[in-house]
Amino acid sequence: MKFTKKQSKTLNNIINSRRDVRGNNFLSKKIKKKYINKILDAGLHAPSVGFSQPWKFLVIKDDDIKQKVYENFNQAYDKSKKYFKKRELYTKLKLEGIRETPINIAVFYKKPTKKVLGQTSSKKMGEYSVVCAIQNIWLMARSLNIGIGWVSIIDHKKVQKTLNVSSKYKLVGYLCVGYPKKFLDTPELETLKWEKKKTKKKVISWL
Ligand SMILES: Cc1cc2nc3c(=O)[nH]c(=O)nc-3n(C[C@H](O)[C@H](O)[C@H](O)COP(=O)(O)O)c2cc1C
Repeated sequence: MKFTKKQSKTLNNIINSRRDVRGNNFLSKKIKKKYINKILDAGLHAPSVGFSQPWKFLVIKDDDIKQKVYENFNQAYDKSKKYFKKRELYTKLKLEGIRETPINIAVFYKKPTKKVLGQTSSKKMGEYSVVCAIQNIWLMARSLNIGIGWVSIIDHKKVQKTLNVSSKYKLVGYLCVGYPKKFLDTPELETLKWEKKKTKKKVISWL
């Protein structure tokens, strides 16, 4: 199958307009099951080391569970404040959308029980594969005008306990999924001058 230039341009648009969406920008509008399935299917098509497909996705709709995860976030967020000089700005940022979104998706890495092709020299390749699945999910969601926010300011082990998931798995990503009021044109942390966009020159070199 060959793609047209127009299709390639569409993919480029999806990639460039993907945003991390946070709780101050989510609508409570529900997501149809067929779209949730589409998003998850995109994850299942990600590349994985040795085709190990070491992922597990847990879709969370339950408000009590979301509340517990939110409390976990709040504790981690409080602890994190001391690390940043721009404290005033940091405390103004909304850095999650756990309760504002109709679904959260917890994405896990399933630790291998046998040797995996390609993972013999670096164990991390398994978790990298899970991150590839998350990126696929993020992009497919964007193509459906659905927003995702990745929440990393949590105690992952405690959240895994709250979710009652066996230690055969490891929580890699906790995603808040819902329709945004709007997709911002530029990353919020760039607009708020938390970080600058790195130039091509700075990050790409050739040998
Ligand atoms: C691994 C990972 C963890 C992240 N964790 C958080 C987070 O805890 N809270 C948050 O608000 N954004 C989080 N983000 C989103 C980034 O802040 C965001 O991707 C970045 O600022 C660029 O903005 P954009 O995604 O809108 O282009 C995370 C992104 C990644 C890839």
